[in-house]
Amino acid sequence: MGSPDDAAATGGAIDSANMINSVDAVDGIADDQQPPAYGYLDIDPDTARRASRTYWDDAAADYQAEHGTFLGDSDFCWSPEGLRESELRLLGDVAGRTVLEVGCGGAQCARWLRRHGARVVGFDLSGGQLAQARAYTARTGIEVALVQADAVALPFADESVDVACSAFGAVPFVADSGAVMREIARVLRPGGRWVFSTTHPFVWCLPDDPDENGLRVFHSYFDQRAYTEHDDSGQAIYTETHRTIGDRVREIVAAGLILHDIIEPEWPAGEERTWGQWGPVRGRYVPSTSIFVTSRPTARQLS
Ligand SMILES: C[S@@+](CC[C@H](N)C(=O)[O-])C[C@H]1O[C@@H](n2cnc3c(N)ncnc32)[C@H](O)[C@@H]1O
Repeated sequence: MGSPDDAAATGGAIDSANMINSVDAVDGIADDQQPPAYGYLDIDPDTARRASRTYWDDAAADYQAEHGTFLGDSDFCWSPEGLRESELRLLGDVAGRTVLEVGCGGAQCARWLRRHGARVVGFDLSGGQLAQARAYTARTGIEVALVQADAVALPFADESVDVACSAFGAVPFVADSGAVMREIARVLRPGGRWVFSTTHPFVWCLPDDPDENGLRVFHSYFDQRAYTEHDDSGQAIYTETHRTIGDRVREIVAAGLILHDIIEPEWPAGEERTWGQWGPVRGRYVPSTSIFVTSRPTARQLS
């Protein structure tokens, strides 16, 4: 998420017609580093798709440069808390399984899955992120199938996948995350697992800051409009969407999936690192990640 609190602190005007807050320029900061205009808007799927694709194409190289070492070339990291699939084993034994990584970015998780014997397909909306994934493949020599696709309209056959997973891919950015749940339920074989991590809904209320400043409720948990950043022409250039815990449960259940667990990790003791709003100060009090563990029911579970 961007930094609405910083933006609000700088003053600026609110365009009440389109709910975009323009932000006063901050002295001493280059033009291209100035905080963007932002707003909370009801966003349509096409706008979210266009903004996410452009944003992640532009941000891919910087994202991998900033986080690539922590993520590892071929490791499966669920979240900024550093939870690894090698410890949690939320996906079960993946050897010989067909696994789909949703919003794979640099496909680090897909490569870990490949190393553990899975047949893997990683897909992402962003060609920029997939180019980074191909560069990792060249460096590591670990090949995974990569596809450019949108999580709300999967180019995969019904019941063709044993396991689907995602570490913060697609779900926090799409306008209709219920459509993602339905698409995953469609492509999963009965009994197949779908496990995804995403921003914890509670952080919607807090400023985007890992320190004490991030421990103030400043925005309504119940506001389900998308956080959006805008360029000078008013075009959305970044969107992040919000679902309450209840919304997520309803979307999972409505897709016909079984919800097994919601993991709300604590910040690890002794870890001083930060990642955006994730960090040791705020992380002592509130969760910033949620991991949903679900599966498509078997015929027996349905009878
Ligand atoms: C925070 S990154 C996470 C990437 C990777 N899982 C990781 O842990 O580094 C979010 C990813 O979701 C992708 N994404 C956003 N919207 C998407 C959509 N509608 N369909 C597929 N991928 C999407 C972005 O392009 C980006 O690569």
